[in-house]
This record gives sequence, structure tokens and C-alpha cells, in this order.
Amino acid sequence: MKTGHLLLGISLALGVFVQPGLAKPADGGESKTDQTSTKKKATTGKPANLPEPKVCWKKTWTFDSLEFLDYFDISCPKNIKVINNHLVLKMTEDCTNPGLTYKNAIHYGKATAEMTMANGGGSVTSMVIDFEFVGKDLTSVQSTYYVNGKPTKDTDKGPERHHSPGGDDVNLSKTFETYTIDYSCDRVYFQVGGKTQRKAIKGEVDKYPAKALDWSIDIWNGGKEYFDWAGKTKWGEGERTAVIRKLEYAAYC
Ligand SMILES: *[C@@H]1O[C@H](CO)[C@@H](O)[C@H](O)[C@H]1NC(C)=O
Repeated sequence: MKTGHLLLGISLALGVFVQPGLAKPADGGESKTDQTSTKKKATTGKPANLPEPKVCWKKTWTFDSLEFLDYFDISCPKNIKVINNHLVLKMTEDCTNPGLTYKNAIHYGKATAEMTMANGGGSVTSMVIDFEFVGKDLTSVQSTYYVNGKPTKDTDKGPERHHSPGGDDVNLSKTFETYTIDYSCDRVYFQVGGKTQRKAIKGEVDKYPAKALDWSIDIWNGGKEYFDWAGKTKWGEGERTAVIRKLEYAAYC
């Protein structure tokens, strides 16, 4: 198989939906809301002056055991393997959506994955609040967020692209990188390699996601309905694997 022909698709998607009835106020002591709602300040440029949320619980998963199965539901188990302390997800024609979904509801918190994205046109690796790696483009990851299942005014111009801090040409299907979605009641930060590359700050954006849904990491076939974006899926042209070496979730109080 010719890897040279492969395109890389990974979408790291964090689906954030507003469900006002369910919106859960932070139960921690800090009150952060005043800061954000009143200010209409630079969304770009300087970091907003928000206090760091307090972490109540944190868990790291590495793949030296099957302990992660206690915490994550698996789709396409036949295409998910632990190999040398890495979790390998493989998309095949008969199993197009291998992935992990965290069993508990996630609220405000910081979800991090160290991974490589799957190669191949049509493959979309995704970490849901939205980071997407698309098969036509091996060197960038795209961020999006949704409110009530729809892109907002801030996102309907399309996802934003980000590169590894290591350089615009770092091949994200080959090089492990750390992707973080850091979501509090005030703001969402999208980070690549620990650097914030995008923010949505409550009070500054059109609509702010009040609730995160699942935390999942998977590969899906974008080559059917979304081929303009993801590329066509040509089965048989090499392996479509995403590899995860570490996951972490820090829940905010
Ligand atoms: C990225 O790496 C893959 C192998 O993992 C290779 O098939 C692909 O051609 C590389 N692409 C670029 C743009 O370097």
C-alpha cells in the first residue's frame, strides 16, 4: 500500500450544546461570571484575565492496561487494540466508526488527548468539543464549537485551522501532539501542544455553550456526505489509524 497517497483525517470534536434547563452553575466557590459577561474586550490577542477554575478531580489514562474500559464505552471493538502502551483505532470499510466515549457526563473541565490522527482521504478523526483533523490536510487540526447542535455566528464562517506549535508542516498523522479542550463556565480554550490557539469567551461570542455533551474520540467516515471537506474515501489505500497514547480529564468544581 502506498502511504504517499494517503491523506490524513482526524477530527477532534467537542460538541457543546446549550441546554438552558440543564446548565449547571459551577458549585465551586469562585464566581467568575461577572468578569466575562460585562466585558466586550479583545477576543484575539491578549489572554483574557479570567481566574483559573478549580480542579476537583483528575484522571489520566495511559494504555498499559485495560483499565480504560471501566471509563469508556467502545464502538467497533474489533478495530481497537492496545499495542505497546498505545491505543490504536482503525477505520475499515466494515467498521467505520471506531471510538471511545467517556461513560460519565462531562461538565466543565479540561479534556486532553495525546494522539496522532488517521491518515487517508475521507477519514475524519475527531475529539468531541470540536477539533477535527481532515483527511485532505495532514498538518492542521480544525476547531469548531456548536450551540444547540448548530455552529454559532462565531463559527459559521467555518472551522478554524491550527498547526502544531512545532511548525506548520508537522505531520500530525506521524507526530504525537497534545490536543486540549478546556471548557469552563466562562470560556472555551482550544489548545494544541499546550498553546491556546482559539478561545470563545462568554459575553464576547454570539452564543456560549452552556453544556458539553459527550467526550468522545473517534474516527468517522467523512468521505460519504462531506467529501468536499474531508476528501473521498478510497478503501484499500493504506491504513486509517489514529493512535492515542494518553488521555486526561480534569473536572472543574
Ligand atoms: C504524513 O505521514 C504519512 C505517514 O504517516 C504519510 O503517508 C504522508 O505522506 C505524510 N504527509 C505529509 C504531508 O508529510
